Order: sequence, then C-alpha cells, then structure tokens
Amino acid sequence: MVKVKAAVLEEFGAPLSIQELELADPQAGEVLVRLEACGVCHTDLYTASGADPSGYAPAVLGHEGAGVVEAVGEGVSSVAEGDHVVTLFSPQCGECIHCKSDKTNLCLAIRDQQNKGYLPDGTTRFSRDGEPIRHFMGTSTFSEYTVMPEIALAKIDKEASLDHACLFACGLSTGLGAAINTAKVEPGSTCVVFGGGMVGLGAVAGCRLQGAERIVAIDLSDDRLELARGQGATDTIVGGPDAVEQVLELTGGFGADYTFEATGNVSVMRQAVEAARMGWGLCTVAGVAGKGETLDIVPRLLITGRRVAGSSFGGVKGRTQVPQFVDLYLQGKLDVDPFVSHRLTLGDVNRGFELMEAQDGIRSVIAFG
Ligand SMILES: NC(=O)c1ccc[n+]([C@@H]2O[C@H](COP(=O)([O-])OP(=O)(O)OC[C@H]3O[C@@H](n4cnc5c(N)ncnc54)[C@H](O)[C@@H]3O)[C@@H](O)[C@H]2O)c1
Ligand SMILES: [Zn+2]
Ligand SMILES: [Zn+2]
Repeated sequence: MVKVKAAVLEEFGAPLSIQELELADPQAGEVLVRLEACGVCHTDLYTASGADPSGYAPAVLGHEGAGVVEAVGEGVSSVAEGDHVVTLFSPQCGECIHCKSDKTNLCLAIRDQQNKGYLPDGTTRFSRDGEPIRHFMGTSTFSEYTVMPEIALAKIDKEASLDHACLFACGLSTGLGAAINTAKVEPGSTCVVFGGGMVGLGAVAGCRLQGAERIVAIDLSDDRLELARGQGATDTIVGGPDAVEQVLELTGGFGADYTFEATGNVSVMRQAVEAARMGWGLCTVAGVAGKGETLDIVPRLLITGRRVAGSSFGGVKGRTQVPQFVDLYLQGKLDVDPFVSHRLTLGDVNRGFELMEAQDGIRSVIAFG
C-alpha cells in the first residue's frame, strides 16, 4: 500500500480535486507504475464534464501516461522493476480472438470491467478511507502512481524521454496508426487530413512515413496548419463549406486516394468521404462524434468505389507497435517536440483543461517530479 496524490473526478462539471488516496499493492497480473509524465486529453475532459453517458465518479482520470515500473504482482513476466512503459487504454492480451487476428486491435480480454472502472478482477486498487475509488480507462494516470494490468503496458526504450513518450499513449499513435494500419497508405499516393490536432498531425506524419507524395492538411487554425507543414504536409487548406471543392481542384477533379477525418464533427466526416477519389478512395474516420449523431453519405459515392473505415487507437496493437513508434521517434523520423505545448504540475491539471478548451497548443503534459 502506498499513499498517492491524484486528481479525482468527484462531481461532473466541477474541477478535478487533488487528493491523497491509498493505492493497494499490485495483484496477480498487475503492475505498479510510477508516472513521470501524462498528457491531458479531450477524453478526460469529456468524462469530467459529465457529457459522456458512460462516465462514473469518484474516479481517478488520466490515460496518456508514461512512467517506470516500481513493482510487479504474481505471475507478471513481460515487464520488470525499472522498465519504462507507456500506458494503454487499449490493451493487448495476445490470446483473445481479436488479438490473434491481424485485422483488429480491439482486445476483448478486460473490456467489461475496464468500462465500469475496475481492474480485471472487478475491484479497485485506489481507495480513500476504505471507500473504493474507481479507475478510468484502465489507466488512471493523473496520479503519482497507478496499478494497471500487465497486458495494458507497452515496454519502451529507456532512451526515450518520458514526457515525449506519453504522447504515444493516445492521440499521436491514433493518427499514425490510422495512416499506417487502417488505411495502409501506399507510396506515391495523395492524402488529405481533416483536422490538425494531435490525431490529425499524427495522421500527417503517418502518411509521410508511408511515402505519400502529396499530403493536404485542412484545419481552421493557421497555427495548426503550420504545425502540419512541419510534419510533412505539402499543401494546406483552411477548412469550411468549400473544403471538398478545394480538394477536387487540387487533385484534377478526382479527389484523394486516402482521406482522414480527425475532428469529431460529422459534417467534416461527410466532407472526408466526399473528398475521397472515385474507384478506390478510402476515407478513415478517427474522430469521435457526439452521442446520437450519425454520418450522412450519399450511397452512390460508395457504389462508385469509395470506401469508409473507422479506426480506434489507429488499429494499433499497443504492446507490439507503440515501442516501434517510440523507436521511430528515437531514430529522428518523428518530430514530437512541437506537440508538447505546455508542461504542468499535477496540481495544474484543471489549467490543462482550460488550455485545451482555448485550443492553446496541441498537448499540455503533466510532469510528476
Ligand atoms: N479513434 C480514436 O481512438 C481516438 C483517439 C483519440 C482521439 N480521438 C478523437 O479524434 C478527434 C481529434 O482529436 P484531437 O485530440 O486531435 O482534437 P483537437 O480538438 O485538438 O483537433 C481537432 C481539430 O479539428 C479542427 N477542425 C474543427 N472543425 C474543422 C473543420 N470544419 N474543418 C477542418 N478542421 C476542423 C480544429 O481546428 C482542431 O484543430 C476527436 O474527436 C477525438 O475525440 C479518437
Ligand atoms: Zn487521449
Ligand atoms: Zn486480447
């Protein structure tokens, strides 16, 4: 048992509260992780605000963590004390029917308990004076320490700085994977990315790594379009109602081989479908739409050869592929520094939400120290 400082969602719509909690020892198949860094993401805010119908409280939020293994429970063999790890809200058990297929990354092993805020055995390790405090996304990384299932930790090279590595826990891997795994962008192709946040910028980088010849970035913000150029975008367009027309103009009237949507806005998803080329254009949707919203597509677009795919965590099998992405960063093939816009302390986590709402920078990263 350790005492930890953590950011607790106590009441929906209210700021997170920094509290001291008890954290029990890791049980069989579990690992105690000391967090070094954690990104602040829209999904944390979405739950904190109360907009997520499946949210629960009290809970320790946070899911974009990177840290060091401090202790392991019984039977844990793939990570050991001192290893550096990235936390995975999307685990990889390696044994379920989905893990055994190369068609999906949606591991089935611990979904039900994770969605309810419990570790796989149906209990919590966090508590406050004996009252259980639930986990969030199986990660709960807004805390000095957390306990997680072994199958939800990606062991990475110790050379990687953890305040950069934490970005691979969510948005960056989602964008990279959308291009590399879901779309499987081919060399020489033309790609269009709608949205220039963490996910869209990751998709731009993924298209570049796949050898795309032309990468068009679309966003409402000039700053973000500039960042997209830094990641390999060859053309930029300011988003709006005529974005599809502009893509058609840039592509000889046909549209792009691959389009990506990373805004969460269903009208932009529609644009992304319409901007895909007839014959073989593939639209990959990564944005998360609001509850109850639907995507409107004219069926003729599909009959004439366009396809639509969705991508959760970029189709990334985290334990296998996150370490590979981190290696690309260490080899200098991925420039992640421009994504870390602010460094905060855990006590400033609500400031991280404010910066995000103001679209100030790409990511605020909490440094535990
Ligand atoms: N599929 C997954 O597993 C997964 C993982 C993480 C995030 N997401 C989702 O991906 C989406 C993007 O996440 P993010 O962190 O990059 O968000 P973000 O808010 O930082 O970025 C969204 C960008 O879209 C731009 N945008 C808004 N309207 C636009 C328009 N009409 N045309 C072009 N651009 C427009 C905004 O200017 C902004 O830069 C969100 O919906 C998020 O929930 C999905
Ligand atoms: Zn996230
Ligand atoms: Zn699995």
